[in-house]
Amino acid sequence: MTKIRAAITGIHGWVPEDILTNFDLEKMVDTTNEWIITRTGIKERHILKGEGMGTSVIGTEAVNGLLKKTGTKPEEIDMVICATVTPDMLFPATANIISHNCGIKNAFSFDMNAACSGLLYAIVTASKFIESGAYKKVIVVGADKMSSIVDYTDRATCIIFGDGGGAMLFEPTTEDLGVMDSILQSDGSGMPYLHQKAGGSLKPPSLETIAAREHFIYQEGQPVFKFAVINMADVSAAIMERNNLSSDDVNWLVPHQANLRIIDATARRMGVGTEKVMINIQHYGNTTSGTIPLCLWDWEKQLRKGDNLILAAFGGGFTWGSIYLKWAYDPK
Ligand code: UT7
Repeated sequence: MTKIRAAITGIHGWVPEDILTNFDLEKMVDTTNEWIITRTGIKERHILKGEGMGTSVIGTEAVNGLLKKTGTKPEEIDMVICATVTPDMLFPATANIISHNCGIKNAFSFDMNAACSGLLYAIVTASKFIESGAYKKVIVVGADKMSSIVDYTDRATCIIFGDGGGAMLFEPTTEDLGVMDSILQSDGSGMPYLHQKAGGSLKPPSLETIAAREHFIYQEGQPVFKFAVINMADVSAAIMERNNLSSDDVNWLVPHQANLRIIDATARRMGVGTEKVMINIQHYGNTTSGTIPLCLWDWEKQLRKGDNLILAAFGGGFTWGSIYLKWAYDPK
């Protein structure tokens, strides 16, 4: 029987208009433009402002753009997965809200939370549903309004994160294209280093949790950095080895944009030159689930059918992973 693979057949990204620069942050906390650029590579990030504007706004813009661009009717979509750590509400799923906003009526929708690796987990899940032959059009959204959980008095975290995301359409193909292989991993012992203390069932919201600023991201940067450098590089090298890919065979590394130094270390370990690495962290910062779709969106015109892409991420949990995929279309 011919093998069915899941191919990306369209991508669309969206970021809000408002920009928060390093110079703006200099006025808010004790930091400098130079420190932020040297330690992270970030110059600016986009921020979603306004009442009633949650992550679903980002997802809805991205999905509506994707449907229009690919000439897909909302009724044709079978399934929607939204990777996010900043859902509009704890329930219902933000994917449900996005589907409703976009007129997607014949799909089942759910969220996936694997922090910065959520997008990779969602792609692998979507691809399995497609490979089964049961589903024909699946949308994966990666979107986060990180500004909703960032403490803008904490200089160690507020400089990193931004808002934005993107949506991808997956369809079946019998060509040798699409998702070829994946490695996903997690290790819950990483929880103490990166988490949000309150708001969940362990510590429901209270006056005390608000006063203690426990509804924001808590991160111990150095241990996270060490784990990220080792694991993102290891898992990217491992997927190349397993698929007999040399650095020459790899056309693009698509890394999660958490820190330019982590991206550089991963590229070095893979032996991939910087000209093959998608880097847009300077403009968007770390948009968590949004980083990889925003890269693919920014580079879409440079991608060619058959290009070998390695997607790689590391994030809270800890979670990490890599995906080997063959790009399925030439620029349209
Ligand atoms: O995507 C999810 C996964 N997350 C990550 O991958 C993030 C991984 N971690 C990192 O990217 C880095 O650890 C950070 C960017 C968060 C921090 O960079 P670092 O080079 O690890 O800095 P550090 O935490 O070791 O801090 C060095 C110094 C400290 O001062 P002292 O103790 O040496 O006097 C900090 O207080 O820099 C200070 N510092 C700052 N200084 C100016 C921390 N934040 C700032 C700041 N501006 N914004």
